[in-house]
Amino acid sequence: MIRVLGIETSCDETAASVVVLREGDAPEILSNVVLSQIEDHAAFGGVVPEIAARAHVEALDGIVEAALADAGVDLAAVDAVAATAGPGLVGGLIVGLMTAKAVASAAGKPLLAINHLEGHALTARLTDGLRFPYLLLLVSGGHTQIVLVRGVGDYQRWATTIDDALGEAFDKTAKMLGLPYPGGPNVEKTAKGGDPMRFAFPRPMKGSAQPDFSFAGLKTAVRQAASAAAPLSDKDVADICASFQAAVSDALADRVGRCLQRFRETFPDIGTPVLVIAGGVAANREIRASLEAQCREHGFRFIAPPHELCTDNAAMIAWAGIERLRAGLAGGDAFAFVPRSRWPLDEVSAPVVGSGRRGAKA
Ligand code: KG4
Ligand code: ZN
Repeated sequence: MIRVLGIETSCDETAASVVVLREGDAPEILSNVVLSQIEDHAAFGGVVPEIAARAHVEALDGIVEAALADAGVDLAAVDAVAATAGPGLVGGLIVGLMTAKAVASAAGKPLLAINHLEGHALTARLTDGLRFPYLLLLVSGGHTQIVLVRGVGDYQRWATTIDDALGEAFDKTAKMLGLPYPGGPNVEKTAKGGDPMRFAFPRPMKGSAQPDFSFAGLKTAVRQAASAAAPLSDKDVADICASFQAAVSDALADRVGRCLQRFRETFPDIGTPVLVIAGGVAANREIRASLEAQCREHGFRFIAPPHELCTDNAAMIAWAGIERLRAGLAGGDAFAFVPRSRWPLDEVSAPVVGSGRRGAKA
């Protein structure tokens, strides 16, 4: 049996969780406590790193206690502590990893420094007992990538964004239209009453031989449409949202379809391969429907973990810790690990052209 305490502080959720894996049994999430900071950041229209770090400092002790209490265990009953050590906002990462170092050393437990993206990548094994290999589409506020998941610690990036992340494009679109933060859910809600055909927004990269994503041009097209139609009526806003979402779904389906095809060619013996979706944007119904259709067409099974495990949480970090312990990949001395604001899952694939001064988004 392995029981791990997970800690997540890479963005604007303060989270802790206890997950257990019993011999011969499916894993079980004993607790999953997530404190969202949305209200702290809403007035600024986006996450403010210093406010996030301070909020993590104030909340984390209580969140860890709550996770242990909900799970009905104390620290002595935990086998290891796993904390997100990157990528993300460095202030938050420092708070989470330092707390984990303190807790682990006080309790005399091993520590694991976990890559947040690995947490997302392995979640479907926690929820659905999935086997390797499978394809992951990660679409969040900070990441947009398609990754081949071959094993624990064994990832190959097949596509990434050359500019904005998809969640970022939703958030910026919302901001341009005067919709509140976070933008994604509000754009989706507003799009419901809109006409998706009114604005012929570009489908970035559609049909391109380069497998990557791009959303900057779409964002510019939205800005131009919004200023041309100003002052915007409710109907204009709804139509822009609907047209934006249609463009995104279409572009995404094209990019994903390409990788499904590549997976088929790479693993011809796998009868029903799997595409897993993760990240906050996975909540979007229209995007899900379009990906489901794409999977049906290519004979893939489509797995979307429950929403609370698609968005940022600590259960996925605890689970990644369990996977690493089980695979004998606990890593080096995590007590000496310095948080990494940038930490690609696939350290081998070169950053894509256009990935910016600070390196690839993912
Ligand atoms: O995974 P997540 O909770 O946090 C990280 O970025 O790591 O993702 C948040 C992102 C935000 O950009 C938010 O606007 C977007 O996911 N999002 C959505 C929806 N719900 C959340 N985007 C589109 N449609 C939604 N329903
Ligand atoms: Zn995330």
